Amino acid sequence: MNSMNRLAAMVSLAALFPLVIQAAETKGNVEVVHYWTSGGEAKSVEVLKKIIEKDGFTWQDSAVAGGGGSAAMTVLKTRAVSGNPPTAAQIKAPDIQEWGRLDLLASIDDVAKANNWDSLLPESVAQIMKYEGHYVAAPVNIHRINWLWLNPVVLKQAGISDVPTTLDELYAAGDKLKAAGFIAIAHGGQAWQDTTIFENLVLSVMGVDGFKKAFIDVDDSVFTGPKMIEVFNALRRIQSYLDPDGNGQDWNLETAKVINGKAGMQIMGDWAKSEWSAAGKFADTDYICVPFPGSQGAYSYTIDSLAMFKLASKNDTPGNIAARNDLAKVALEPSFQYVFNQNKGSIPVIKGLDMSRFDSCAQASAKDFAAAEKTGSLAPSMAFNMSTSQAVQGAVFDVVTHFMNDKSADAGKAGRQLLAAIKAAQ
Ligand code: BGC
Repeated sequence: MNSMNRLAAMVSLAALFPLVIQAAETKGNVEVVHYWTSGGEAKSVEVLKKIIEKDGFTWQDSAVAGGGGSAAMTVLKTRAVSGNPPTAAQIKAPDIQEWGRLDLLASIDDVAKANNWDSLLPESVAQIMKYEGHYVAAPVNIHRINWLWLNPVVLKQAGISDVPTTLDELYAAGDKLKAAGFIAIAHGGQAWQDTTIFENLVLSVMGVDGFKKAFIDVDDSVFTGPKMIEVFNALRRIQSYLDPDGNGQDWNLETAKVINGKAGMQIMGDWAKSEWSAAGKFADTDYICVPFPGSQGAYSYTIDSLAMFKLASKNDTPGNIAARNDLAKVALEPSFQYVFNQNKGSIPVIKGLDMSRFDSCAQASAKDFAAAEKTGSLAPSMAFNMSTSQAVQGAVFDVVTHFMNDKSADAGKAGRQLLAAIKAAQ
């Protein structure tokens, strides 16, 4: 979305708020800013809305379209700056700390204590939901990023008998798919989608250690070394397999091309599964999920959470606080966690749920998460805001997108450009 469109979207959103607030004035109300707007995502968030309404509160939906959430974050900032924050917003870990530092988040310690969050949540997750030791956000899921999604019928038609497990096998599958007249890899050319592939390549080529050195430690040698050149060369090679009509396309419209048999594969986090589920398709028969080639054993992830904002004085009523507490409580309840995550493609964030109620992709995800946790192979996603601030993430988006758009850009120089951009944004 260009800046004019973004502005227009914000203005039209702002125009809607007074009406909705009036309608909800007499009840306990939760207003939630989120970006779950694809078919499968909307179905998932509907589960939460229904429970909140069943509990007697009003759900005020402030969805802002745009995969990856940049547009939603722009709206949120404008709202917060003008003293009109929502009750809750879908935010990722480092940003929770930034909003906390601005003194805009509300403590939900009472809810957390009454519902035993400290023992329900893995310690590493509990920690990032807190600001200065107080819970200020409720996590809802764990999404794995390093996935490859495949349509087995298309693969068969293209003469591919095995799913790719290495980058070379991915290229070979891409060649066969193209030769058979299919889109090899469904992909929308948007900065965050390009960066999803880049991040997966870093994991595949450099392993978890290299990934962490790059995106957590920002170690110069990782950006200037030969492996980073290999990553950018691989990105260029993969680019030749991407949907030629994918420029600016939304991720879910690209997922639809794999579902409809126009494309063979998609590189995307497991919210892609929500589209398959919403289309009535099943893992193993209609689609196959495998770790992104070369990244087996590693697990890159992001956690969606609802950060709770201090209410503007006009909204700061006992009813609205009760509604906010209900939202926080429901987010971690097992019954919600099952249904929400089955629809969303993610795995539950609370411990001890029965994974036999999930499909094989979610079961593999849960198993791989636990294994990666033990071996220190969890990689907090850069493209999905788990390892860096939005400023650093934005710098990576810019360099990767520039590289994708300029076919003559030099893979040998891109790593240094990336390092310089990250340093400038830190
Ligand atoms: C979020 C997912 C969402 C995806 C696409 C990610 O940042 O974690 O919940 O489905 O973006 O918008």
